[in-house]
Order: sequence, then structure tokens, then C-alpha cells
Amino acid sequence: MSFLPAFMFHFRGWKAAPISEPLTSNRLLATLPCMETSINSLKEALKNAERVAVLTGAGVSAESGVPTFRGADGLWKNYQATELATPEAFAKDPELVWEFYNWRRGLIAQKACNPAHTALTALERLIPDFTLITQNVDGLHLLAGSRHVLEIHGNIWRARCTRCGKETMDRAPDMGRRPTCAACGGLLRPAVVWFGESLDPRILRQAIEAAQQCRIMLVVGTSSVVQPAASLAFTAKSGGAMLAEINLEKTPNSDFMDIVILGKAGEILPRLVEGWA
Ligand code: OAD
Repeated sequence: MSFLPAFMFHFRGWKAAPISEPLTSNRLLATLPCMETSINSLKEALKNAERVAVLTGAGVSAESGVPTFRGADGLWKNYQATELATPEAFAKDPELVWEFYNWRRGLIAQKACNPAHTALTALERLIPDFTLITQNVDGLHLLAGSRHVLEIHGNIWRARCTRCGKETMDRAPDMGRRPTCAACGGLLRPAVVWFGESLDPRILRQAIEAAQQCRIMLVVGTSSVVQPAASLAFTAKSGGAMLAEINLEKTPNSDFMDIVILGKAGEILPRLVEGWA
């Protein structure tokens, strides 16, 4: 089974689709001034915040060319998550699962950080206590230079031995059909969290603490449908934090947000960090 042709077909379809409404549409004219106010309010709030947590999802890497999971062009529209991203799928057919992950590794290896990643590194330098919680496994936040990053769904460049548990970092775009552990010869698996698996409790605890203690939480480029990540916003809100969402569209969590900015992460985030006195 090859993953490349289906994705390329879909990608061509996306490029051919109409991009947006004309600039003169009533909807856009009504939204723009409001968006400016929201960006300015959020920027002022960030300038006065000692503790900030950011939760990111696949939308942050979308402008780098990494496919998201849901929506018209999402990975889970083209592939069955149950056949590729569950412990049962790996037990049944590890070679198929590795083929999927090798394909994703090869794709991500060609991608670079975008202005959204870079803006978050700038924000980290400006805020005294900053935590970046990401659901992304592509490692692009670390590549951009973010330091305090909690990769709650793991990292696609790491592999874990199914026998001895040893984890290794390997940036090879292709790990082969049945990669094995250098220490014990056991079968390696991607060190990512699959559906039906628990998050690393140590990392999850740190993410919850960051959410409890932050004064502002930015929720960027996530559909907010996967738990427990989606409920971190509620944890932050219960602790008294201001919630701000940046996304192309509304999500199930939008109604709980104090600020919702509809737009591209790579365009909005840089505006939040430009020109701090
Ligand atoms: P999704 O694919 O579910 O959602 C991506 C979100 O990003 C959507 O809400 C889009 O509207 C938004 N988006 C797309 N492009 C954007 C842009 N340029 N700027 C801002 N927003 C944009 O991805 P996640 O929410 O990250 O889990 O998915 C959560 C988890 O589900 C993933 O970590 C993965 C997946 O199954 C595991 O692999 C365990």
C-alpha cells in the first residue's frame, strides 16, 4: 500500500478549490475591524502577563505544508486512523504502520518552520514563565528554537523499543520496514501516542500544571476534539486564565474563549509579538 499518490491527488484538489470569498463580502467587512480590536487586546494582555501557556495543534504546521488530521484535506479523511494509529493496528501489521510513519517522516523532513513557529519562539523570550504544549509530533517547534515544549502526543523522530522500552532519536526519513532496537534487537515503534493509549503521565502532569497556573492560554490551530488536550483550555479557565483561540474556523471550544481570532496562525501570531516596547 502506498500513501503518496492519494495524498498528492487530494492536495491537487485542494489547490484547485476556491480560496475565499471576495474582499468586498459583507462578512469580511464586518469581521475585519473586530479582528483588529481582538489582536490589539490580546497583545496588550500578553504584555502584562507573567505566565502564559500555549496549546498548539496541526494548524500551526499547516502553513509549513504538513497536512492536518481533520477538515477537507485532513489525513484522517484519506486514511483510517484505526488501521494506522492504534496499538492494535501495530500488533496486526507493523510493516503497514511503519510505511505510514516513514511516509510522514519523509514528508515532514522536507518541511521548514513557518512564521507561526517563529513567533512562538519570540513570545517565549518575552514572557517570564512560558510553556508550549503541543499535540504536534513533527518536532517543528523544537526546530524553530522553542525551549519549554511539552510534546504531549510524542515526537515522530523518536522510536521506542517494544521489548526493552529504550527510546532513540533518529531523523532518518525512512526507518525501514521493521526497524529494530540497537540495544536488544526488539521491534521499534514510533514514539507517538496512538488512539486508545494514555499520554505520558509526567508530561501530562506538567501540561495540567501549566494550564492551572497560566494567566493567558492561547489555543492555536487545533480542532479541540481530541482529549485530554482539548480540556486543558477548561483547566486554564477554571484557574482564572484568559482564553484566546486562533484558528481558521470556530471549534467546539470557541464559545468558552474570551477572544476568538479567525485567521492563519502564521499571520496572526507574528502580529502579537511585533513591536513590544
Ligand atoms: P486537526 O486536524 O484536528 O485540526 C487542525 C485545526 O487547525 C483545525 O481546527 C483547522 O481549522 C486549523 N487550521 C488549519 N490551518 C490553520 C492555519 N493556517 N492557522 C490556524 N489554524 C489552522 O488537528 P489537531 O487538533 O492537532 O493525535 O488534532 C489533534 C490530534 O488528533 C493530533 O495530535 C493527532 C490527531 O489524531 C494523535 O496522533 C494522537
